[in-house]
Amino acid sequence: MNHVKIIGTGSAAPDKVLSNNDLETLVETSDDWITARTGIKERRIADENTASSDLGYEASVKALESANIDASEIDGIIVGTITPDFLFPSTACLLQSKLGARGVLAFDISAGCSGFLYALHVGYGMITGGTADKLLIVGAETLSRVVDYEDRSTCILFGDGAGATVISRSDEPGILSSIMNSDGKDWQLLYQPGGGSRIPATEESIRNKEHFLKMEGKDVFKVAVKSMENATVEVIKDANLDPSDIDLLIPHQANYRIIEAIRKRLDMPEEKVFCNLDRYGNTSSASVPIALDEAIKIGKAKKGDTVLFAAFGAGFTWGASIVKL
Ligand code: UT7
Repeated sequence: MNHVKIIGTGSAAPDKVLSNNDLETLVETSDDWITARTGIKERRIADENTASSDLGYEASVKALESANIDASEIDGIIVGTITPDFLFPSTACLLQSKLGARGVLAFDISAGCSGFLYALHVGYGMITGGTADKLLIVGAETLSRVVDYEDRSTCILFGDGAGATVISRSDEPGILSSIMNSDGKDWQLLYQPGGGSRIPATEESIRNKEHFLKMEGKDVFKVAVKSMENATVEVIKDANLDPSDIDLLIPHQANYRIIEAIRKRLDMPEEKVFCNLDRYGNTSSASVPIALDEAIKIGKAKKGDTVLFAAFGAGFTWGASIVKL
């Protein structure tokens, strides 16, 4: 009994929709350009009273309900986020308190858009290593707080949301393989300069918009495609599977063209790839768990299916996991 299974999922997104047509009124862009270059049609934006832990809480409550367990039964909370409520304490600690989960370990992981997969990987290691039996693994983001709505190269991409899973020790196979990676040499291609210890918030840093996310999209695109393609091929091999054994690919939802490149590399039919970025945009750490929850809800992913996750993000970080549901 040393397998690790996903036993519950949940997701949450703010009600407010920001469409491509809305963005046309903010920056020089068009619905046609955004749709053709990214596949995104709209994204959700949190109101001023909602932070990442609020979305994470809503997703976590649903995940616990779907797992049919109480918060008191989990041994730990790991949150992937690059938009925590505060630099410290962690968003995981805020969730611990809101959920009333006592005596648990709780921490955040900063791994850009790979945050959820990194958290799942660490949780997998904890359970197989014997230090936990059940964990809450969350991706929660309010990217709208760090996006510059005067920068058309980034503001069209990102949205807010959260997804959560409960993972548990199990007799049946669950996570079949998980491989994570990083390379920090090109960190400046995607980062938030201000607000940390290198450029603390000052009047000048705010004036220079250094607390906003910066991205060299074209360069990031190329590395993202290559890294995620390689990670998916590697993890399939590590699990002793063939691409044809994968029932559903759930990739990080950054750009439809990136997803298509991975699909083609694996020679998978379109119906085996789950995409919801048209409705949410890029929600960073939240994208994979939101997509998983939706795929399960609409019956696209079912018990017994073999699902391949892949992600890439700031750092750079990337990884892929294969899970039998
Ligand atoms: O989630 C973490 C990882 N992040 C990603 O994976 C994002 C990866 N990058 C991308 O998805 C794409 O690079 C973008 C969607 C960000 C940009 O698409 P692109 O095809 O790489 O466009 P580009 O940056 O090369 O820009 C092409 C043209 C430029 O104009 P010129 O120089 O050709 O005249 C841009 O100024 O499109 C222009 N442009 C826009 N036009 C209308 C850039 N942004 C916009 C815009 N609306 N929003």
